[in-house]
Amino acid sequence: MGKVLVMLTAVAAVVACSVATVMVRRRMKRRRKWRKVVGILKDLEEACETPLGRLRQMVDAVAVEMQAGLVSEGGSKLKMLLTFVDDLPNGSERGTYYALHLGGSYFRIIRVHLSGQRSSLDVQDIERHSIPTSLMNSTSEVLFDFLASSLQRFIEKEGNSQAVKRELAFTFSFPVKQTSISSGVLIKWTKGFAISEMAGEDISECLQGALNKRGLDIRVAALVNDTVGALSFGHYHDPDTIAAVVFGTGSNACYLERTDAIIKCQNPRTTSGSMVVNMEWGNFWSSRLPRTSYDLELDAESMNSNDMGFEKMIGGMYLGDIVRRVILRMSQESDIFGPISSILSTPFVLRTNSVSAMHEDDTPELQEVAKILKELGVSEVPLKVRKLVVKICDVVTRRAARLAAAGITGILKKVGRDGSGGEGGRKRSHKQIMRRTVVAVEGGLYLNYKMFREYMDEALGDILGGKVAKHVVIKAMEDGSSIGSALLLASSHSVQTIPSV
Ligand code: BGC
Repeated sequence: MGKVLVMLTAVAAVVACSVATVMVRRRMKRRRKWRKVVGILKDLEEACETPLGRLRQMVDAVAVEMQAGLVSEGGSKLKMLLTFVDDLPNGSERGTYYALHLGGSYFRIIRVHLSGQRSSLDVQDIERHSIPTSLMNSTSEVLFDFLASSLQRFIEKEGNSQAVKRELAFTFSFPVKQTSISSGVLIKWTKGFAISEMAGEDISECLQGALNKRGLDIRVAALVNDTVGALSFGHYHDPDTIAAVVFGTGSNACYLERTDAIIKCQNPRTTSGSMVVNMEWGNFWSSRLPRTSYDLELDAESMNSNDMGFEKMIGGMYLGDIVRRVILRMSQESDIFGPISSILSTPFVLRTNSVSAMHEDDTPELQEVAKILKELGVSEVPLKVRKLVVKICDVVTRRAARLAAAGITGILKKVGRDGSGGEGGRKRSHKQIMRRTVVAVEGGLYLNYKMFREYMDEALGDILGGKVAKHVVIKAMEDGSSIGSALLLASSHSVQTIPSV
């Protein structure tokens, strides 16, 4: 009996030891895996670092590239496109105008009535629709007929559809080489659009053709980049507005430049002595940009690799996918996210609005993060893993916002409004007098993502310094691009405008 007891005790001890060993091993393995993901996060943080010194180098690089792009065609990755807009609306415009805005993920139609006073700006109707993905890969006929039929429905709602001739501004949020204020050819698609055989086509003609086919008496009288629309809107309300930036699905900026600085354009023929330049800053590139392996992968797998490098780091279309790639890498290298989810492996499945929802989740248990991860096929992860996800969102968004701030300051530097005392890269001997400078900002990323906004504003303050920053006003505007395009059409109108409907 005694012997049996001894044996049983020995067996129990061996079992207990083995269980303990297994548990210790498991814990060690878990710790190793945790350390691994923490290492991935640390690497990400390091690769995304944007210290002030680096941002300042970027500011210089933006100003230098702007200059190079103005000197010669193809002189820089910044296209610095002419817009033929030399007169911005000021509030005295009259008439009724339409705008159709094809953006990255939405299109809008609006009607604006103006009666000669800023305070009486009347946006009478606004329709907003998401763009079906099938349309982005369709044909030119399908796309323009879709836009024309949407416009037709909009007009039909007015009742007197045949009674008046209408003037339309086409807000087209893609790079166009303008040939006049109302015409221009597509340079290339961006933001996931891939309608073949359209590069080189006149965009206004395409839309006009589709409208004519439907027997609509509408004239496409202005072709406007969304940034230029936003600048118009900003300037209409505040004449100190000299630049506009869009942070939406894509990103871009435009600003008012002296015509004598646009060296590549021999005969700009403007009356005001300045012209709005569409920078197409999404294509900006500098070796100082903090690029990670995730950016490289994203670029390599994109439809437009080696193109739009800056946009791929700051555009709403891409931030979600960068975050997704980091989570995927972590889940491949450790099992803290459970079995690898096939959903998580799908490009662009994580949208930037989900990133903002996770980033700004203020519930104690991070329920929003849990919900979004579940939609990505990742369930039941512990709180510390959810916190890790929030941190990834933070790192990616903070980098984007700080780079965006450097981009804006680059423009200010180019036009001599950054307080450095120089204009166009040249130093002035006397002290610069700071003028109030307004930058209009449009786009869902800025308007709807508080953390992006806060990081960007903070970085602007850091780069410019308090004394200068207080003269620089960032003005957010919703639907500014569409309304501004209609305003621009009104201000550029030399012939009699249509009667109001
Ligand atoms: C386009 C720009 C546009 C920007 C913001 C970019 O992808 O190239 O023309 O202004 O997106 O919509």
